[in-house]
Amino acid sequence: MSIQLKDAGLLKTQAYIDGQWVDGEEGVTFPVLNPATGETIAEVASVTAGQTRQAIEAAEKAMKSWRALPAKERSDLLERWHQLILDNQEDLAVLMTAEQGKPLFESRGEVMYGASFLKWFAEEGKRVYGDVLPSTQDRRSIVIKQPVGVVAAITPWNFPNAMITRKVAPALAVGCAMVLKPAAETPLSALALVELAERAGLPAGLFSVLPSATASAVGGEMTSNPIVKKVTFTGSTGVGKLLMKQCADTVKRTSMELGGNAPVIVFDDADLDKAVAGALVSKYRNSGQTCICANRLLVQAGIYDAFVEKFAAAVKEFRIGNGLEESTTHGPVITEKAVADIHAKVDAAVAEGAEVVLGGKVSEQGSHFYEPTILTGVTQDMSLFKEEIFGPVAPIFKFETEEEAIDMANDTEFGLASYVYTNDLGRIWRVSEGIDYGMVGVNETMISSEIIPFGGVKESGQGREGSKYGLDDYLETKYICLGGL
Ligand code: SIN
Repeated sequence: MSIQLKDAGLLKTQAYIDGQWVDGEEGVTFPVLNPATGETIAEVASVTAGQTRQAIEAAEKAMKSWRALPAKERSDLLERWHQLILDNQEDLAVLMTAEQGKPLFESRGEVMYGASFLKWFAEEGKRVYGDVLPSTQDRRSIVIKQPVGVVAAITPWNFPNAMITRKVAPALAVGCAMVLKPAAETPLSALALVELAERAGLPAGLFSVLPSATASAVGGEMTSNPIVKKVTFTGSTGVGKLLMKQCADTVKRTSMELGGNAPVIVFDDADLDKAVAGALVSKYRNSGQTCICANRLLVQAGIYDAFVEKFAAAVKEFRIGNGLEESTTHGPVITEKAVADIHAKVDAAVAEGAEVVLGGKVSEQGSHFYEPTILTGVTQDMSLFKEEIFGPVAPIFKFETEEEAIDMANDTEFGLASYVYTNDLGRIWRVSEGIDYGMVGVNETMISSEIIPFGGVKESGQGREGSKYGLDDYLETKYICLGGL
């Protein structure tokens, strides 16, 4: 085991159920690997369906008194938890890089990003307002908001910290309890988070963390147990659809943050340097493993060649390596299988006529690394145009007109994030309104934060996370008719 933490107590390998650290009921554990080295960094308890049920029942019990507290008291817990995360930023970042691979500077950034949701919802949770509706003389129609109930969350490996706090913070803020299954690749960040929550005074049962080697036992219980009133998931569209089907039997509410196929549309009139810088950071952040990362660069014919040249020159400066080394700018891909999937997509595009400007192969750094890749000569009829790549591969498509750019951007079943570079105000509005996406970055690709409603349309999902809108996902609206007045 090679992780060096200032506070060794943050490296937890047991599940956290009903306020207790426990082993898996059947004694099963699973290895957590450092994707940069392939080394096993921890063996983590794998929970059963029975333990998931126990956590759900504990959540129901804990929620009874939690929801009855004044919002201010719930907020105080989130504030304390927020502060402990800030105090332990470096350890949380080291844990994250060790299990996920992203460079340390990105992990430090994600810890701060994750903490920001606790702070935001600690404040926003105090502002859950209802309504009194215009009514007839003998009655008053009142609308109140109440916590949706016990929430089950399933979170991904690409953001092992922030995708958890983005869900648990609003849930706890409004009075819900939560059971969480973190990704099998990255349970350590989740367990460290709940350790800090416990230190902040988390009541037993309110938030249980259920690592598991396989998704089906825990996920099956979460989606079928009638106590669970809502399932929130971040991950692939395929898994999201399956969870929605499983939730249908007990008519659970769902929030789904699913796959993307983000276009970065660069018009001739754009500031070229800003467009290149924005596309680069969006494409290669987390080695291209984000749902909102640039998946298709759509560049207008007049600046296409200049864009490709500048983009390639910048990519050549990347330093690929182990994320724990400060000099690393880009880390590994999560698994060897993911590397193989990415390479298969590049191979297919090349077979269909794409040209490799840079990369296009597994890196000499090792079997978990894929070279940052740029493809030109790509067209709308290629399979790559429709697929989420989820790796460091930038296909650069050419377009002629604004209308064509909008059509190309919309030619996908996904609709999460999109980006437009132009200095024409009319075009900013036409394109922003004409493309079917939940989020549009204009002359900006770093669009995420706790204050914005993050989410997609079409098969990219439903619901919004963060911002004042993010509370609604954890609230039910109740109408009370006060009659006979
Ligand atoms: C994601 O890729 O799912 C999340 C990215 C973000 O929150 O910025």
